[in-house]
Amino acid sequence: MFTLGIETSCDDTGVAVLKDEREVLCEYLSSQIKDHSRFGGVIPEFAARKHLENLLPLVDAALRECGIRGQDLDLIAVTRGPGLMGSLIVGVQTARALSQVWGVPLIGVNHLEGHLFAPLVDAEDLEPPFLSLIVSGGHTEIIRVDAFGKYELLGETRDDAAGEAYDKAARVLGLKYPGGPEIDRLAKNGNAKAFDFPVPLKNTDKIEFSFSGLKTALLWQVKKLEEAGQELPIEDLCASFQRCVVEALLNKILLASKKTGIRQISASGGVSANSTLREALSTCGKIRVWLPKLSRCTDNAVMIAMAGRNAFMRRGRVGDEEVVPDPSLHDIR
Ligand code: KG4
Ligand code: ZN
Repeated sequence: MFTLGIETSCDDTGVAVLKDEREVLCEYLSSQIKDHSRFGGVIPEFAARKHLENLLPLVDAALRECGIRGQDLDLIAVTRGPGLMGSLIVGVQTARALSQVWGVPLIGVNHLEGHLFAPLVDAEDLEPPFLSLIVSGGHTEIIRVDAFGKYELLGETRDDAAGEAYDKAARVLGLKYPGGPEIDRLAKNGNAKAFDFPVPLKNTDKIEFSFSGLKTALLWQVKKLEEAGQELPIEDLCASFQRCVVEALLNKILLASKKTGIRQISASGGVSANSTLREALSTCGKIRVWLPKLSRCTDNAVMIAMAGRNAFMRRGRVGDEEVVPDPSLHDIR
């Protein structure tokens, strides 16, 4: 079975072809980071135009590389939300048109369910039940997976997502967008104990996150140093900020594990590429952890193809009218 995956929810145009459950025949990703970084964030209108330019050539290249004709596909899986409306429209409308022209079934995928599947691409041994920590630019949540398609949201962020906090912190420090990889890189040479920022919601027994207070603590610290005329110790600030984010994520995933008795954990989304988080999760003896390879932590079409195929095998063909873009789609049940 051949599945074409299409991802255009934000600023990455992704196309991938999957054979059967998890064999990746080819994957393409056209990142717009360079286009957006000069604005300090994603410009929605611009992202949609770039998807329009990039998507069909990528589909064409992917099919050529795999030696497959469009008509030979068994399924097209496309992200239908959550995300930026203009970006989603380009992906969904293109997928609908291709599905009709080639006579291939179409399925809409929740971007978060896509992230949930990312660690599974290389992990045949990960079976439900497990807990999925999704940490991206738009979401920070812990989902209990009792079966594929049977999900329970155990907790999420009250305010900023972890990736959003990274991006905002980077702006405070005068670093480029996206901030996560920059802070991760600079933190490697910093002292993580140099600044005593608060670890969010450290002493609560609730599975929830909050990152806006930490971001504000960083902002005040930077102001204080600037007012004192001191040069900013960027690496120490990055390392200290990162220690608190990672500690908060680790605390809550361990709390969720303790509360549910589930010790199999997966993490995905852009922030799961973070080196300190990966190390903290992997060396924490209390749980067994699955992480996607680095290139599949951030948005990609392989995860969409795998999630779409899995849903298609469970639910069968859905009407094309169900495949509509929904920027605020959230529930992944
Ligand atoms: O999953 P993703 O590609 O897009 C969304 O669905 O949001 O995640 C992008 C986010 C950005 O906020 C970026 O700063 C963050 O992931 N990110 C990282 C790292 N790489 C990407 N955050 C921390 N450390 C990283 N190494
Ligand atoms: Zn994402």
